[in-house]
Amino acid sequence: MKIVFATNNPNKLKEIQALMPSGIEIISLKEIGCTEDIPETGKTLEANAFQKARYLKEKYGYDCFADDTGLEVESLNGAPGVYSARYAGSQRSAEDNMAKILNELNGTKNRKAQFRTAIALILNGEEQLFEGFVEGYISEAKQGAKGFGYDPIFLPENETRSFAEMSLNEKGAISHRGRAIRKLVVFLKNQ
Ligand code: IMP
Repeated sequence: MKIVFATNNPNKLKEIQALMPSGIEIISLKEIGCTEDIPETGKTLEANAFQKARYLKEKYGYDCFADDTGLEVESLNGAPGVYSARYAGSQRSAEDNMAKILNELNGTKNRKAQFRTAIALILNGEEQLFEGFVEGYISEAKQGAKGFGYDPIFLPENETRSFAEMSLNEKGAISHRGRAIRKLVVFLKNQ
């Protein structure tokens, strides 16, 4: 089975390819000639994931799936949430986004946070949604250099290491995206 994954983020592509069984081939946007920014203007992760998948299906005709992820910080009332990519501005800088959160949590005891991922699948004309989340904490400072996005400041529950200090497989075993992807894989295998 071949399926397009609607992302321009090479890190996400790597994470997802590592979690797919050998019978399912993931095709990147580059490979189908889609180089534009896919609109994501929804107010929820789920809406954004479906918006991206439907755009791709309508414009390019491929069966596909798209993910949208947000970091939800309890003491910031769930922010940045669906606005995680542009939290510190339209430059979409991971460094600026992390600095903003560390600054906002400066001196705050409650550092609880979670990552949440919604994956929208369009296959044979039908839509499906898969979700995954991981609870944890925002660290006091950045830790590690692997991964991407907010990984250096997120400590999953019962861990002293951040996601940025873990291998692809270690992160995938417990991460929001790993959990959502495993549900997607079970579904795809049953098709
Ligand atoms: P999106 O799902 O690509 O829209 O991501 C929203 C924001 O969350 C971006 O700033 C990403 O860098 C960040 N993000 C998405 N997935 C992860 C992850 O697994 N770890 C850390 N940050 C992530």
